[in-house]
Amino acid sequence: MKIILVAGARPNFMKIAPIIRAMNKHPQLEPVLVHTGQHYDKNMSGTFFQTLGIPDPHYNLQVGSGSHAVQTAEVMVRFEEVCLKEKPDVVMVVGDVNSTIATGLTAKKLHITLAHVEAGLRSGDRSMPEEINRLATDAITDLFFTTELQGTKNLINEGHAPESVHFVGHVMIDNLFYQLQNLSESTISTDVVQLKKSLPEKYICMTLHRPSNVDSRENISKIFDAVREISTRAPVVFPIHPRTLKNIESFGLKPLLNTENIITTSPLDYNDFLYLWKDSCLVLTDSGGLQEEATALRIPCLTMRENTERPVTAEVGSNIVVGTDGEKIKRLAMEAIEGKWKECAVPELWDGRASERIVCLIGEEKLICYNVVKKQ
Ligand code: UD1
Repeated sequence: MKIILVAGARPNFMKIAPIIRAMNKHPQLEPVLVHTGQHYDKNMSGTFFQTLGIPDPHYNLQVGSGSHAVQTAEVMVRFEEVCLKEKPDVVMVVGDVNSTIATGLTAKKLHITLAHVEAGLRSGDRSMPEEINRLATDAITDLFFTTELQGTKNLINEGHAPESVHFVGHVMIDNLFYQLQNLSESTISTDVVQLKKSLPEKYICMTLHRPSNVDSRENISKIFDAVREISTRAPVVFPIHPRTLKNIESFGLKPLLNTENIITTSPLDYNDFLYLWKDSCLVLTDSGGLQEEATALRIPCLTMRENTERPVTAEVGSNIVVGTDGEKIKRLAMEAIEGKWKECAVPELWDGRASERIVCLIGEEKLICYNVVKKQ
C-alpha cells in the first residue's frame, strides 16, 4: 500500500517522525514523504528533520509564505502533480495547518483515500485559521485518527460513521517520549546548555505565535506586561517565532522585553527547547502542541487563548486556559512558581504507541476493504 505522508509546518514534523518510524517496520506499507515547504527556515524546518530523525522528503514543494489563499492554492497545484505521478492508495495528513487542508482537498478531488491524524478537534472558534482547516479537512476525510475521546465524539456528532473513527492516542506524545529517552546533553547546542546552567531552579518557558495574540498590539502588550512582572519572580525563556518577531518590531514593543529576566532567543531546535521546558516550573504558551506535551510531562501550563480544541489537557491534564487576562496569568503563574498546582494526570492512550496503532489499523484487511469500496 503506497501512502503519501504530508508535512508542511513546524508542528507537523513532530507528528510525522514517529509515523514514519512505525511504517518502516511494516514492509507492506510504502511511505512517500512530501514536505510542502510551508515552513522553510533552517530553524523552523531543516533542524527538525535532522533532530527528529525524519528522512529527506521524496518531494519538497517549496511553497513558502503567502496569504492563506496563495499558500493553500500553491500547495494544491504542486501536490496534484505528485499525486498524479505517484498514484498513492492513501494520503495521510496530520494536524490543522494550511498544508493539511490543501493536500487533503487535492487528494479527495482525485478520489484518493484520505486519512487524518489528530482529527476531530474543535475549538468552536471560527476566527482561528486552524479551526477552518480542521472542519474542512474532516468534512472530506475517510479515516479519522483521534487523540482524545472528545475528538471522536465531535466527529460522531457531525455525522461521520463510527467505524471510520479510531481513537489511537497522540503521535506527538510518541515523539516526545522517544526524544526524551534519547536526550543527552552532548546533543544539545552549547549555547542552550550554558543558558540552562545560568538559570535558577525555578524558571519559565514561553512561546507565542497565534495571530489572535501576536497580530494585535493590544493583546501582545497585555501579555508582555504580565510576563514582565512574573519574570521578577522567575526568569522567562522566550524563543520568538518569526511572525511574532515581525510584529514586535512593527508595533515598537521591543522595549517591553528589555529586561534581564526575559531571555529571548530565535526559534529553537526541538530537543534544545525540550531540554529547557521539561525542567521548567511553568510553560506559558498559545501553542496547541505544547499544551499537550506539557500535559504529558505534568508540567504546569497556562494557555494564553480564550479556548482550546484539546479539552483533555485542561480536564485531566496540567493545563489551564487563561486567555489574555493579565491578572489571572500573574496569579496562576505565582501559584506555579510556589509549587501549588491542580492534581493532574496523563490522558488516556498517551503512552507513546499511537503511531503503532495507526499503522496496524491502516494495514488491517478491514481498512483495505474500506478503501477499495471507497475507490469504486
Ligand atoms: C503556522 C500554522 C499554525 C502553526 C504554526 C507553527 C497555518 C494556518 N498556521 O502558523 O497552525 O501553529 O505554523 O509555527 O497553517 N516565516 C518565516 N520562516 C518560516 C516560516 C514562516 O519567517 O520558515 C514567517 C513568514 O513571514 C510568514 C509568517 O512567519 O509569513 C507566518 O508563517 P505561516 O506559515 O503563514 O503561519 P504561522 O504563523 O507559522
